[in-house]
Amino acid sequence: MISFNLNNKPVTVDAEADMPLLWVIRDMLNMTGTKYGCGMALCGACTVHLDGQPIRACTMPVSAVANKNITTIEGLPADGSHPVQQAWAEHNVPQCGYCQSGQIMSAVALLEGNPNPTDADIDNHMQGNICRCGTYPRIKAAIKSAASAVKKWEPSHE
Ligand code: FES
Ligand code: FES
Repeated sequence: MISFNLNNKPVTVDAEADMPLLWVIRDMLNMTGTKYGCGMALCGACTVHLDGQPIRACTMPVSAVANKNITTIEGLPADGSHPVQQAWAEHNVPQCGYCQSGQIMSAVALLEGNPNPTDADIDNHMQGNICRCGTYPRIKAAIKSAASAVKKWEPSHE
């Protein structure tokens, strides 16, 4: 049995220690917002936060997150009130949408650590998140829009 916090709620799973966190999240805990792309930490589709830092859930053994805090896209406000969610809507960022939960989780982590990112900061931080639809210009614009709002944002949820 392995226990950790998922989106601020304690969960316990009967999983093999080396099972990828992504499998646990999607197949055992039925949180399907986090996507499978490459399975080799190359595309970023499976990005979640481990104690606030972005990680690739497809290559993270679940045993490595025992007693830690995992946040998935479902951990953002359901009403879409987070500044990054708002900016994504404002800039119509998604095309097919497949990569977007990973893009958003990477962007949220970027702005939590650096509320005033330069273009180079954004490029550097987001370079591991691949978008086959080429939404990169809209992603960058949305991150810039969200940057000032993030500093003022107070979550209204737990
Ligand atoms: S599915 Fe994890 S990085 Fe591609
Ligand atoms: S929106 Fe289609 S892969 Fe990114």
